[in-house]
Amino acid sequence: MCGIVGYTGPQSAITPLIEGLRRLEYRGYDSAGIALGTPNKLFVEKRAGKLGNLEAALNATLPLTHSGIGHTRWATHGGPTDRNAHPHLDNEGKLAVIHNGIIENYTQLKAELIGRGHKFESETDTESVAHLLSDLRRSHGGDLSAAMREAVKSLRGSFTLLAIHADAPEVIVGVRRNSPLVVGLGKGENFLASDVAAFIDYTKRAVELGQDEVVTIRPDGIEITDLDGNAVKPKEYAITWDASAAQKGGYQHFMLKEIFEQPKAVADTLLGRLGKNNEILLDELHLTKEEVRSLKKIIVLACGTAYHAGMIAKYAIENWAKVAVEVEVASEFRYRDSVIDKDTLVIAISQSGETMDTLMALRHAKVEGAKILAVCNTNSSTIPRESDAVLYTHAGPEIAVASTKAFLTQVVAVYLIGLYLAQTRGVMDSDEVREIFDSMNELPAKIEQILETVEPLRELTRSFAKENSVLFLGRNVGFPVALEGALKLKELAYMHAEGFAGGELKHGPIALIEEGSLVIAVLPFGHEYGLDEKMLSNVQEVKARGAKVIVIAEEGAEVTGAAHTIRIPSAPALLQPILATVPLQVFAYEMAVARGNDVDQPRNLAKSVTVE
Ligand code: F6R
Repeated sequence: MCGIVGYTGPQSAITPLIEGLRRLEYRGYDSAGIALGTPNKLFVEKRAGKLGNLEAALNATLPLTHSGIGHTRWATHGGPTDRNAHPHLDNEGKLAVIHNGIIENYTQLKAELIGRGHKFESETDTESVAHLLSDLRRSHGGDLSAAMREAVKSLRGSFTLLAIHADAPEVIVGVRRNSPLVVGLGKGENFLASDVAAFIDYTKRAVELGQDEVVTIRPDGIEITDLDGNAVKPKEYAITWDASAAQKGGYQHFMLKEIFEQPKAVADTLLGRLGKNNEILLDELHLTKEEVRSLKKIIVLACGTAYHAGMIAKYAIENWAKVAVEVEVASEFRYRDSVIDKDTLVIAISQSGETMDTLMALRHAKVEGAKILAVCNTNSSTIPRESDAVLYTHAGPEIAVASTKAFLTQVVAVYLIGLYLAQTRGVMDSDEVREIFDSMNELPAKIEQILETVEPLRELTRSFAKENSVLFLGRNVGFPVALEGALKLKELAYMHAEGFAGGELKHGPIALIEEGSLVIAVLPFGHEYGLDEKMLSNVQEVKARGAKVIVIAEEGAEVTGAAHTIRIPSAPALLQPILATVPLQVFAYEMAVARGNDVDQPRNLAKSVTVE
């Protein structure tokens, strides 16, 4: 969701601000704006729509300044208009604020501020913060950091806020609560941003901010305090990926690049995980042998694509480690009476590590006494920080809004957890673990093989560009793959798409089938469970009612009733999602291209969903 950047230093601020916003475009937004640190009165420009609209509005009279803040907004309170775009100003036009998140008590705040004579220009919750800060800054003798500390004490909700004032334009003040903000440390210049991608061209040194910490940046240094003004020691870390990782590298879209990065991402996530005695090495789980052995239940919490990775975790962990696994959509979890105790392990899966629904669910589980393990792709993000342990996936930066390589690495991570639990609980011996691990090690080459032969699939996909609806069917681990295929297609092609368990077809969904309906059946999960034949019966059932069926099947598997068969390499059934998902990603990608949609930033979606 909203992207935030701040810059102070020797450069003309507009360059790092616009570049930073461009790097944050993937988060999803519908308007953009900047405030430049001009003395006396800030220079502000903001526009609804894409960043290009803002750039077009920034004409040649742009002042040369060395500080500023920039924002891409994903509308919550008030539509995506020029007026509601950030920054928002105080009535003197001297103080500007940008914001990600929601100020829950803004109505009351706004009423109080209007009572004190403030005039509001927009429908946003954010504007109330600009007016509040303006008053508080005055009462703190012009100290913007002190004003921010006091303001935040009276705010409810989740937010990242940045503020700048024309009387000291080289100073930018930021704060975060349940929403991301990182500091970039440069030479004689400093940055603030929603994530490191915004300033990666300028520095590899970053500082993470804790909850309710206020940061003040100037060209020559930064200060961090808590809300009472006590100094907090900056926690610096090095950014390990370089700018090229956040660029398209010759691909037409980030999504395509990320699909093609999957062999490496899977290999990187597996790297160094098998010890010399064939044991799975996951020291970062911080679980004692006794804790693992006394585990009674695992609850997986996640949203969207990450939830589908959680569903696959259930099949793998229950099969290998013989521990009961519940999987729940994170947004539902804390609003019911779940049964949790100290023998429950909660696994929170999140690419971004900032998803508010997942964060709130894990906090709830923590209060109830569960141990929390995060599976995350983003270093030092909020979910790992608030968990007892974290297993990082090594997908690298995922820029396209629709998740691809992050999903595959999440699935690999939960396989590793399953094998680790199985070996520690004594359910599998080291030879069995080794055998599965060896099969996992073959997956990168097999994904590569699929990617080398996607052209016919792309061509086939284009022939379906005018379809209105696609149904996806799968059984066993093919069921979450079907759900993931449908989600990708909805997101990217804006088409009606549903995934069903093959067995459920006759309990309702088959009524949707009519002459010409398009169905994709995910076949290759049955052979170890005798389900292949049942899936093929499903294929026949929909075909008999006029459907065209595309079947995803392993090489060599017998397929009947399919109009088209997409072959993928064979693998043990539980590992097949890693392979079978790839053609479905390509199908959704190509469909979006064929329909002229914005592939990397599909409408209405945000990469990092930081509101509940
Ligand atoms: C789908 C997609 C979303 C995310 C979901 C959770 O392509 O990207 O469904 O999977 O919003 O996001 P994270 O993993 O960042 O918690």
